Parts: sequence; C-alpha cells; structure tokens
Amino acid sequence: MASNGCVDWQFSGSDAAGNAALASLGTYSSEIFGLCDPQGKPILPPLSEEAETSLTAEKAVVQAVLCGKGNAYAPSIGLPVAKRAVADYLNRDLDNKLTGDDVFMTVGCKQAIELAVNILVKPEANILLPRPGFPWDMVHSIYKKLEVRRYEFIPEKDFEIDFDSVRAMADENTFAIFIINPHNPNGNYYTEAHLKQLATLARELGIMVVSDEVYRWTVFGSNPFVPMGKFSSIVPVVTVGSISKGWIVPGWRTGWLALHDLNGVFKTTKVLKAAKEYLEISSKPATVIQAAIPTILEKTPQEYFDKRQSFLKDKVDFGYSKLKLIPTLTCYMKTEACTFLWTKLDPLDFVDIEDDHDFCRKLAKEENVIVLPGIAFGQKNWLRHSIDMETPRLEDAFERLKSFCDRHSIITEPSLKDVNGVN
Ligand SMILES: Cc1ncc(COP(=O)(O)O)c(C=O)c1O
Repeated sequence: MASNGCVDWQFSGSDAAGNAALASLGTYSSEIFGLCDPQGKPILPPLSEEAETSLTAEKAVVQAVLCGKGNAYAPSIGLPVAKRAVADYLNRDLDNKLTGDDVFMTVGCKQAIELAVNILVKPEANILLPRPGFPWDMVHSIYKKLEVRRYEFIPEKDFEIDFDSVRAMADENTFAIFIINPHNPNGNYYTEAHLKQLATLARELGIMVVSDEVYRWTVFGSNPFVPMGKFSSIVPVVTVGSISKGWIVPGWRTGWLALHDLNGVFKTTKVLKAAKEYLEISSKPATVIQAAIPTILEKTPQEYFDKRQSFLKDKVDFGYSKLKLIPTLTCYMKTEACTFLWTKLDPLDFVDIEDDHDFCRKLAKEENVIVLPGIAFGQKNWLRHSIDMETPRLEDAFERLKSFCDRHSIITEPSLKDVNGVN
C-alpha cells in the first residue's frame, strides 16, 4: 500500500481497465493531440470546433427544457416517447415493424455497443469483430474478458466483408458478428445483396448480427443506405445507433439499441432479459434529450441531411484528389460515407518511419496535423484522415501532409503504383 508521510494508506487504484483502455481510440487521439505544438501552426483538424446542428434539434431541446418534460428520472430502459419515436423512425425502412418495447435508450451509441457486448458475455463465448473497426466493442470485450475473433475485408472489392474469413473464425461458441455500416474507418456501406448474404451466412452459423448504424445519415454514395434490420426475417438482428453523427451532437449522449427479433428468439435465448437487467444497473441518457427525440427524429428537414452529405462528398472529392499527389499513400476507395479517407502506407517507402503510429506521431510533431493510425482501429500501417473541415483548412492539412511525406520518403519521382486508379 502507498505511504505518504506518516500514514500507510490502505487503498490503491484498480488496474482492471488498463488493458481495455489501451485499445481505446481516445488513448491514441489524446496522445497524438498532445504532441502538437499549441504555439505553432494551427492544429488540423481543430480540436474544439463548434459544429452546427439542425435548428429543429436545438429548438426541440429548448422546448423540452422549457416545458419541464425532462426534469425527472427516466425509466432505466428509456423514456416511452423516445423509444416509440426511434421504433417509428427505424420502421420507415422495415417490413417487420418494431414497437417501442423493442428499443432501449442508451448513453450514445457507445453504451448501446457496451450493452450488445454485455448481453453476450458467457464463459467460452466468442464474438466476431471487424478488423479494422471503431474499437469500442473491442474495448468492452477486453474489459469483460470476452474472446474476440477478427474478420477481414477485401480492399480491392470496395471493402466488402470477406465472408471466407468470417466462416474461418466461427465455431460452436461464436455468439455474434458485429458489423459497422456505414463503416468507420473504411468509409463504405453495404449493398442490399451483400447484407442479405451476411444474414444467410449468420443464420447458417447460428449467430446474431449486431449492426452499428451510427453513420447512416452521412452517406453520399450512389446506392441507398440499407439497414441490417431489413433481414430480420432471416436472422436475429440488433441495431445500435444514436443522434451523435447525423446531427453532429456527440455531446448530447443519446442513442439506442433495437432488437429485431426473429420469432421471439431474443426472448427464448434470454437476450431481452439480459438487456433489461444490464440497463437496470447502468447510467441513463439525460431525460431532457430523450424528451426531445421524437421532434428531432420526426421533424428534422431532409434538406439538413442533404446539405451535410453534399458538404462531405465535396470534401472527400477534394481530399482524394490531394491524396493522388502523395505517392507514398495508397487510397483504395474514395469513401462514400462518414467523415474521413482511409489510406495504406508501406514503411519501406520512407527513410525513417517505423509504422503507422510512428508516422502519426512525427506528423503531429512536425506539422501539427492529426491523422489517426490504423492500429487504433486494429489494423497496422493504415491511416485515417479526417475531411470534415472547410476547404481552405483541408487544403492546408493535405499540403502539410504531402510536404511531410515528401520529406520522409525514399521515393523521389511520382510513384507508378496504380491501385484502383489511385496514385
Ligand atoms: C462506428 C461508431 N460507432 C459508435 C460511435 C460512438 O457514438 P456515440 O458518440 O453516439 O456514442 C462512434 C464514434 O465515433 C463510431 O465511429
């Protein structure tokens, strides 16, 4: 025990979350931000941008505050009006309709992911997670000692799920496959045919599909977004989501988990019971935001999303054209969703870069530009570049990136690499 002066204190901090925290994105992003020089060039992307949300959402929250609708505790599973509104919203795309009872309100999508992991934890159980992927499911699996097996993607096929790798990973103790659709960090989203194939494979393996659809409102490719819940007549599906990305309000911390139940499977397998029990012992999203959810979901005009999507598409086009001028980074796909571009690097193309993490640290120190290393998403030697900035800043960020790459590169002439038309 620690000794401080003359007292031998009997307590010390637990290190139970140590390993899990190492897998968290925040651990990487804080470290890399910390390497920037606050007195130097402007840090890009800027740390605390005040993003603009929809006026409808702002008014809905003000209204909820003024009416006192959100002053009380909400039930542990969520405010009934919010649950019903989420069900109605998701039902727009579904044949098998949800009711409010199938939806649970959570503290952002992160708590919904935690909930999905927690209801599956059992000795010997394993789950299939994407590599790469936004790592919150990984973090909580490590924390709960749930075995994780990672399936892969095919970059040459616009990052489709590699079903062979899914099949190779699964065994009789596999409970679920988690997908992220639209995908962070690949930046793609899946076609109806691909999702149907996934549903059929999951049914064959006897596992459920957990689909993280937090980015469903930031899609700007030519195909429509298709939710996984559409295939709940084939396989049981859990959908997780939130208003964080679509309305640019991650600080409002309000999300949900929806159970798309195939013939009552979630009841007979006690998943429904486990979800309620977990929520009974967890913290809840602020009631006042839950009270505003019906208006936010029902009344936000489509133009708000159209404007945001066209902004992001424009920035992706711009960033992608700039990446073409950097021969040491390979971008397999111009992203069609989310807020970033995803590139591969080969340390052998550089004089003094060990790997993706080293690249990001040196870039932050030398250029005050924040790029996240692939390892933060479970995939070494890839990079995630944010494009969610106004064009002059984006241009500055990519120019600094290029000058950094040129300075450290062994390549003197523009590369002859040709991957899917890029570089
Ligand atoms: C794929 C994905 N899911 C979930 C989250 C977390 O969402 P929330 O802020 O609603 O907890 C993020 C955040 O970046 C994400 O990228």
